[in-house]
Amino acid sequence: MIRIARQLSLAFLLALSATPPAQAKTVTANSPDGNIVVTLSDEGDAITYRIAYGDQVVVDTSPLGISFKNTHPLGPSFAIDSVEKKSRDQTWEQPWGERRLVRDHHQELLVRLRHPERKEDEFALRFRLFNDGVGFRYEIDNREPDRQAVITRELTEFRIPAAEKTAAWWIPGRGWNRYEYIYRQTSLAEIDRAHTPLTLKLDSGIHLSIHEAALVDYAAMVLDQGRPGNLRADLTPWSHGARVVLSGPFKTPWRTVQISQGAIGLLNSDLILNLNEPNKLGDVSWVKPGKYMGIWWGMHLDQYTWASGDRHGATTERTKEYMDFAGKYGFSGVLVEGWNKGWDGDWFHNGDIFRFAEPYPDFDLKAVTEYGRARGVELIGHHETSGSVSNYAQQMDAALDLYRDLGVNQVKTGYVADGGDIKRIDENGIVRYEWHDSQFMVNEYLRNVTEAAKRKICINTHEPVKDTGLRRTYPNWLSREGARGQEFNAWGQPPNPPEHEVVLAYTRMLSGPMDFTPGIFDLAPKGLDADIRVKTTLAKQLALYVVLYSPVQMAADLPENYLERPDAFQFIVDVPVDWEQSIALAGEVGDHVVFARRERGGEDWYIGGITGADAREITFDLDFLDEGKSYRAQIYRDGDKADWKTNPYDLVIENKTVGRGDQLTLRMARSGGAAIHVKALE
Ligand code: NOJ
Ligand code: CA
Repeated sequence: MIRIARQLSLAFLLALSATPPAQAKTVTANSPDGNIVVTLSDEGDAITYRIAYGDQVVVDTSPLGISFKNTHPLGPSFAIDSVEKKSRDQTWEQPWGERRLVRDHHQELLVRLRHPERKEDEFALRFRLFNDGVGFRYEIDNREPDRQAVITRELTEFRIPAAEKTAAWWIPGRGWNRYEYIYRQTSLAEIDRAHTPLTLKLDSGIHLSIHEAALVDYAAMVLDQGRPGNLRADLTPWSHGARVVLSGPFKTPWRTVQISQGAIGLLNSDLILNLNEPNKLGDVSWVKPGKYMGIWWGMHLDQYTWASGDRHGATTERTKEYMDFAGKYGFSGVLVEGWNKGWDGDWFHNGDIFRFAEPYPDFDLKAVTEYGRARGVELIGHHETSGSVSNYAQQMDAALDLYRDLGVNQVKTGYVADGGDIKRIDENGIVRYEWHDSQFMVNEYLRNVTEAAKRKICINTHEPVKDTGLRRTYPNWLSREGARGQEFNAWGQPPNPPEHEVVLAYTRMLSGPMDFTPGIFDLAPKGLDADIRVKTTLAKQLALYVVLYSPVQMAADLPENYLERPDAFQFIVDVPVDWEQSIALAGEVGDHVVFARRERGGEDWYIGGITGADAREITFDLDFLDEGKSYRAQIYRDGDKADWKTNPYDLVIENKTVGRGDQLTLRMARSGGAAIHVKALE
């Protein structure tokens, strides 16, 4: 009724105006294979779009637009003015990644829209349709360079049909925490507000992932559910209430919908990277993927402390021991946390006192970097801010200069603070509290990455804003956390559930690399009966190196625990972190997943399979292997009696000769796995 009334009043107004009402227009575009069709329309009082996949509507007619403070919104009552179509089929090379070559094959639809009366009011919508999904963004070009815009709302919606019959894997949007939640599996209708990537399985079996690409100088998008199935793009606000503050012309991040019949299609998609800008850093030969160890798990187990004192973890002596171990087994880095002043007391809440260029007296920064270098091991720097970003910002130049001067190539940053508790001092000296995924922090994280790049330093961000593929543009942004990592298994509260990592593969990991920190060998330091333990088998810990992609992978456990199980440790020593090619071979969301990856610049393949709460037997073809070549598969699998709860250490290591045309069957226990090094034989 209301809609009809609004249409009538619009028609009335248009009838009164001098120009006759324009005919409603509808434009369509399709993916290169023709399977995805987007329909854009200016019919009625809203600009809308719809996405069909084959004969199924996957996003029903949904509104588009942006509203501003003190000026008219873009979208409502606008009309399509002009349409341009283009296509692209290009392959580009990643300096590091899941695959070296990425194909960007899409059709583009650029639609300019204009308000029928306010002629100067115009904007454009750019859609890109790939065979595996759609991205679109708003482009607002006709603005004077310093004209300010304050966005109060984005009107974008994603209207998903049959919400009650659609399965969703999600974490709550913008709660106390920074994405470090246990994932929920419910019907879509039960979501109140969710972060992206949001993974959906429609009643038809089609899988979707809703997310965004190239989040730069804008607020993150959280999805708010209105009527069942109507997901509204809600932008994370500043402490002063505005969503986004911009000046001059601007483009929003891409809103993305990845689409696949089967679950693994989402894992094999490069859509997010393809929608990001190419490398802006030029020569990035100094950006080096690698495996690392760290003075880290010992603190989480409360064996050592970040704080100074008797149990201080970050001592010169212990760092040298770790570097000896790392050098012996071919790790390229050792992370040291708790080396700088500020950790004493309640470090979670005293971020203002961190000194980023002042080591504790028992840590000789220069001596350890030199000691490591002589053994082919680099110190990995650490900057924990506890969310006091202004304190960090004031010291960032000096802190990064110090690491640069010592030749440190990688820094892990941390922004531990409850959601909405990022502390900044504004231009007037007033203390403000912001969200991790607000426009302010989106810019702050990127500033850290670009400042680091000037000094040839790579960044691995913990408590980050979600990944939106910016590693393509800034390849020194190697990895980040942004989900519940292994650390929760040391603290309880509770530990990660058995299905956690397999859910991550289909949710968080769709956004980009994660520093999950796999490889815990002492799975139950307090005994199998304790609740605080790692709820996986040993084989699953190995498989995580292949399944959860990151160009920097930690061997997270204490060196002594690796020495207890040298045979299993061999897989961690061998597994690479940089890939020529990656293929998700089999899987269902939250249940199991199997990946095969070929080493960058090598002939060997690595296969990783993991399960969730149920045991699984999975058979797949080895048709990705080279024709005529023979391979030896070193298989690290769950033993016949393995079970995360009762028998997590039951691991069998065996060899098999395999080739293209063969099949492999993996029998994986409950929260189990298999890790395979498929070695090319001469
Ligand atoms: C949280 C990070 O995720 C963790 O890896 C780190 O040890 C602590 N913060 C301290 O910085
Ligand atoms: Ca964390």
